[in-house]
Amino acid sequence: MAEKLKILKFPDPRLRTVAKKVTKFDKSLKKLSEDMLFTMYEGNGIGLAASQVDRHIRLIVMDLSEDRNEPRVFINPEYEIIDNESLASFEEGCLSIPGFSEEIIRPDKISLTWQDLDGKIHKDNPEGLLTICIQHEMDHLEGKLMVDYISPIKRDRIRKKLSK
Ligand code: NI
Repeated sequence: MAEKLKILKFPDPRLRTVAKKVTKFDKSLKKLSEDMLFTMYEGNGIGLAASQVDRHIRLIVMDLSEDRNEPRVFINPEYEIIDNESLASFEEGCLSIPGFSEEIIRPDKISLTWQDLDGKIHKDNPEGLLTICIQHEMDHLEGKLMVDYISPIKRDRIRKKLSK
């Protein structure tokens, strides 16, 4: 049975931890990814990074399907920007910053590599929402948050509201 995990909320300093590479592809990694998917679905999110549940390893779960039945797991993901001038703007939300959304501009032409739960390597040039979502989640692995892209004044306002 999957368990619901506690999601760290901004401005919790643990969200600033840089995640370590996954080296062991074992049962506990599979269990964590299942728990993270369960937690993500419960929170109505489309993506969740292990950093957000206070596990600082390079693991991301995601489901971008409308029917919420296409769970995806990305381990040790890396991306390269193919075209610096090709940008997309998207209204992003984050389970660690509940109740807020912000229009963020990101490169939308990237090439992506990652490993699955068996350690097998995959490569893709994603399109659409996956391109944006994977960059948002990979920011979490670097200890970076969506609010880092907005003005300090706005960020402070969000911090005050969530600290209450
Ligand atoms: Ni997030």
